[in-house]
Amino acid sequence: MLVFKAAAEIRDYFKSKSVPLGLVPTMGALHSGHLSLVQRACNENERVVVSIYVNPTQFNQAADLSHYPSNFKRDKELLKPFGNQVIIYAPDDNEIYPEGTKSKNYDFGTLTTYMEGEFRPGHFNGVATVVETLLKTIRPSKAYFGEKDFQQLQAIKALNIQKNLGVVIVGCPIVREAQGLAMSSRNQNLTPDQRKQASVIYKTLQKLKNKDFDGNIKEMRAYFVKQVEQYNSFKVEYFLVASPKDLIPVDEINPDGIYRFFVAVFVGKTRLIDTLPFDRM
Ligand code: PAJ
Repeated sequence: MLVFKAAAEIRDYFKSKSVPLGLVPTMGALHSGHLSLVQRACNENERVVVSIYVNPTQFNQAADLSHYPSNFKRDKELLKPFGNQVIIYAPDDNEIYPEGTKSKNYDFGTLTTYMEGEFRPGHFNGVATVVETLLKTIRPSKAYFGEKDFQQLQAIKALNIQKNLGVVIVGCPIVREAQGLAMSSRNQNLTPDQRKQASVIYKTLQKLKNKDFDGNIKEMRAYFVKQVEQYNSFKVEYFLVASPKDLIPVDEINPDGIYRFFVAVFVGKTRLIDTLPFDRM
């Protein structure tokens, strides 16, 4: 399997080949969620670049960055079954940030104002900086992102339009563990008990979807917090309901509206996020 570490090399490699190219940006510590994106990209493109780069500028806390799992050897093994169709791009900091590890400033309006934008200041500037660089380096026809990070997906769609990048941004469904926990590289930092207990997040969102709370978000939030915080190390950071279009949290639910739940939960020091579509029809 080809592994490129320099932007110039990978650009050179593809210069003479005008083939449909897919890009799957990741931060490594790959799991089945990532692999579902790679599979989709392989189905839809002749060649697929999987980038593996833990982007420091999108971490607003140094401890979160230093605890972020990484295992390049294992990632390579997991990508092997895709064969030569997949190429790995694993740049280092100098390659992505030749002028110093700093993010650029972007304005995605309400898309990045709330939820992760509010609780992780600077996060989306960091994400957009690295994704813009990757899209300009690789120049794919299509790039693949998970709905697990729904806000990120919307911000990248906006970035693509604002910067006229001309890439088709493809959103892919969330892959979950058998009990419902959304797959995440951060799950590796949970104890076996915490990992089992963490399925309460998805199970409670499912219940909220089906139970009749008369559209009362306060009651929904109270129920979510009660269920999730029944476990000692669990603490809800936010539970919000927002329209998927503008990502502005609402206080009241309109019976005809289409919404999504957005949640962030600390399990000990590990922060997990999840989201689920929700309508009252
Ligand atoms: P990372 O968390 O490694 O995720 C890489 C891609 O995999 C993202 O598009 C994410 O939404 C998707 N993904 C993660 N877990 C998933 C799951 N359970 N089901 C479906 N898709 C899932 O997101 C990032 O990295 C970074 O912010 C990045 C875009 C690479 C920029 O640094």
